[in-house]
Amino acid sequence: MSVSVALNNAYHATLAFVESIPKKERKKYGQFFTSEKIADFMASLFTIDFGKPRLSVLDAGAGTGLLAAALASRLRSSGYEGEILVVCYENDPKVLSTLTQNLDNLATTLHITYEIRNDNYLTSQNFISQDLYKKEAEKFDMVIGNPPYLKIAKDAEEALAMPEVCYGAPNLYFLFWAMSINNLKDGEELVYIIPRSWTSGAYFERFRQYLFRHCVITNIHLFGSRDKVFDSESVLQETMIVKVKKTRKTPRFVKMSSSETSDFTNIKYYDVDYNTIVAPNRFVFLVTSQEEAEILSRVNSQSCTLESDDLRMRTGLIVDFRSREVLRDSDEDGSFPLFYSHHIKNGRVQWPAGRSSEYILTNKSGYLQENANYLFVKRFTSKEEKRRLQCGIYLKSDYSEYKYISTQNKINYIKCDSPELVYGLYVLLNSTLYDSYYRLLNGSTQVNSTEINLMPVPSKESIRQMGCELIGMELTEQNCDNIVNRWIK
Ligand SMILES: C[S@@+](CC[C@H](N)C(=O)[O-])C[C@H]1O[C@@H](n2cnc3c(N)ncnc32)[C@H](O)[C@@H]1O
Repeated sequence: MSVSVALNNAYHATLAFVESIPKKERKKYGQFFTSEKIADFMASLFTIDFGKPRLSVLDAGAGTGLLAAALASRLRSSGYEGEILVVCYENDPKVLSTLTQNLDNLATTLHITYEIRNDNYLTSQNFISQDLYKKEAEKFDMVIGNPPYLKIAKDAEEALAMPEVCYGAPNLYFLFWAMSINNLKDGEELVYIIPRSWTSGAYFERFRQYLFRHCVITNIHLFGSRDKVFDSESVLQETMIVKVKKTRKTPRFVKMSSSETSDFTNIKYYDVDYNTIVAPNRFVFLVTSQEEAEILSRVNSQSCTLESDDLRMRTGLIVDFRSREVLRDSDEDGSFPLFYSHHIKNGRVQWPAGRSSEYILTNKSGYLQENANYLFVKRFTSKEEKRRLQCGIYLKSDYSEYKYISTQNKINYIKCDSPELVYGLYVLLNSTLYDSYYRLLNGSTQVNSTEINLMPVPSKESIRQMGCELIGMELTEQNCDNIVNRWIK
């Protein structure tokens, strides 16, 4: 990969800036600078329209302007001779002189024009305003960016300016991304380097809706190891590069690539079906091999969800340390069993275990649930454990003397109308297929019920029949796999 002198100069100026300002200062602005190799790689992803006499480039949150420098260098080294206008937004006054110096250099060596806007990118313009009296968003031919990674309060001015994509506590990076899509011309491309968190999770749902209403994903690059993606910084959060195109026309494949390190040696390329990466429920799957693509397409071929099957997973009722007054160590008159995740063992629920606070004595209805048939699922497992999804079959007939029971909030549960259905859900969630699928969906060790409820699953009747096949057999993963492999091809 040839790296132009202009880009190299910008990079050296960036290093000098990084050295001159304490990290704590830079953190306030969510400042992490891209390396020269990453900037060059990102610039190489754009399709260049040589027919246009003029190309406008947006770099929002420009820092020292390294990404703009990489893209301008790429345009010129590819033979683009038209006019190039670079617009950079940057609100940290300390970085402005390095930014100006870098863009001045580009103006001289690559004959570009530029504009620096020392302003807040998110609040200085309108986001998807349908108001006729407000100004239409400014539109660019190319958007490149490494936005600030910073959680902000839900009543921060940036969040209030963009309610359409905010839910819960937002992060500046996806607000930048949404605004940049707003600033992109139809049919044109945007390349961003961002954390991976937006791909699943409820906080990002509104953003994903917005993204997929306007754009399709064409390329994703993943870094294999958690090495320092940003030179001289230790950003532990996993990072990815994504290219989107502002169109509704879905490509057949997403061009995936991955490299162990951020210098792109031994880069691997693989094309994956668009619908495997962008699932119908709008989760985005970061597939790193053909085998993973297969897992996804098998699960995604199922047409129901736990929600649509009326089998919604919920979180246990009791936060034990906040409800001490109702917890009991032994069976008192009127008390009910309280189930914890340590009662889930080898696919069964084994209660009592002879520990403290295994009973609850209360008449608060919010603390009790009907003694019904349930599948219990641990909410938390440790990284070292082999499986993320660990389930236990709970049958009301095993505890028939109780009208009610209760569950600690470290358990998730699914209420079923028959034992066969509990067994069927056990087959699914205890299979290798669904455990692998869940890991692809969510990198954390927590089992999030919103995500489980949206996972594609077979119909309720098929799940029941799968359960009938397991009854009488050992509750092993292998037995579950054999059944699942017959039902889900
Ligand atoms: C992660 S850094 C990336 C810098 C540069 N694009 C790069 O890749 O090296 C994000 C930049 O956005 C700037 N920034 C943060 N909030 C901003 C805002 N609301 N408006 C404009 N710039 C902002 C920060 O000062 C920082 O320089």
